[in-house]
Amino acid sequence: MLEGKKILLGISGSIAAYKTAAMTRLFVKAGAQVKIVMTPAARDFVTPVTLATLSKNPVQSQFIKGDKGEWTNHVELGLWADVLLMAPATANTLAKMAHGICDNLLLASYLSARCPVIVAPAMDLDMYAHPATQANLKIIASFGNSIIEPNTGELASGLDGKGRMAEPEEIFQFVKNYLNHSAELNGKQILVTAGPTYEHIDPVRFIGNHSSGKMGFAIAEELANKGANVILIAGPSQMQLKHKNITRIDVQSADQMLKASLKHFKKADIAILSAAVADYTPEIVSAHKIKKSGATMQLKLKKTIDILKELGLLKTKKQLLIGFALETENEVPNAKKKLVAKNLDFIVLNSLKNKGAGFSVDTNQVQIIHKDGKINKFGLKAKSAVATDIVDQLIQIIHA
Ligand code: CTP
Repeated sequence: MLEGKKILLGISGSIAAYKTAAMTRLFVKAGAQVKIVMTPAARDFVTPVTLATLSKNPVQSQFIKGDKGEWTNHVELGLWADVLLMAPATANTLAKMAHGICDNLLLASYLSARCPVIVAPAMDLDMYAHPATQANLKIIASFGNSIIEPNTGELASGLDGKGRMAEPEEIFQFVKNYLNHSAELNGKQILVTAGPTYEHIDPVRFIGNHSSGKMGFAIAEELANKGANVILIAGPSQMQLKHKNITRIDVQSADQMLKASLKHFKKADIAILSAAVADYTPEIVSAHKIKKSGATMQLKLKKTIDILKELGLLKTKKQLLIGFALETENEVPNAKKKLVAKNLDFIVLNSLKNKGAGFSVDTNQVQIIHKDGKINKFGLKAKSAVATDIVDQLIQIIHA
């Protein structure tokens, strides 16, 4: 089930640490190799001897071992692992992970790990609900880490609420699913565009749009988690991503995005264009800041090149091309027209009419329209879950 998989388990100081013994056993029984790093505080909750015995590997928690000056190589631990599982992750450890604080061996291993990271938080309900913890979780997720949400139930404090770390069996299933799907897109080269474009008017002004890049970044991450090599061409976006399979190319304008896309499409097996590219750009970009003058001013715009359409013309039989459509009326017929006009394999339709869908929000509701006319409708979901649906459709086409 997990033969040959290497799991680095990072335990921080929470009462939920007692669950790591059962979790370690599940992983080892399934054939995985498990190495464990504990924070000093975690040793108060579960003993290294128990975990070393169950994992069949020495447990690490110090930079320097014994009194002979022997150094623990945290970089090696991070490179060894197929996945780093931070469970339990306390409020304190989450805060440090979000801000790059590195005051113990576990955090050093986390910062130097190149593998995917899965985080299972555990804490009291008010600590979990605190805006600081929620903000830290958002930051951690924005780095491309996966979060296993805690359960609601009885807590060590005697209170009842959300903060109980997921059960060993739930975490085991999550990690197993994650690792077993991690090779589905191995060897595939995939181009993704994301975010808005900025079209310069003069040195200080531009025409932009409200796209945050969240959808495209979530797709890039999902593809990378399934083993693809992703070239992510991103317009200006606050989003951050850390994944060894993703190469990010930052661009500003539609023209720059076009040039980067043309360059990388040749070697791509698949391209997914989710960027909100400007349809028009100023005809002339002023070299100097435009001075205020009359009561009105006119800006002459010229059409940009439709990147998706260009790639549709260049597409070979071996390549797959996926686009997005953002519609406010006649959604399905309009999206179908775009699918045909741009030579796509499927198109993801966003409707701005759906509450919670579209720009800047964390959720989206989409329909996927295939070139054979088949339509898959999905409910309102987190953008990461929408990304999973889109990538699953892609995998079905590849395996058809
Ligand atoms: N697109 C692109 N290059 C452009 C414009 C759009 O690659 N210059 C891509 C987008 O990334 C998206 C798809 O085309 O995948 C559809 O974008 P959308 O704005 O919905 O449609 P348009 O084709 O621009 O048509 P309209 O604005 O008239 O609806």
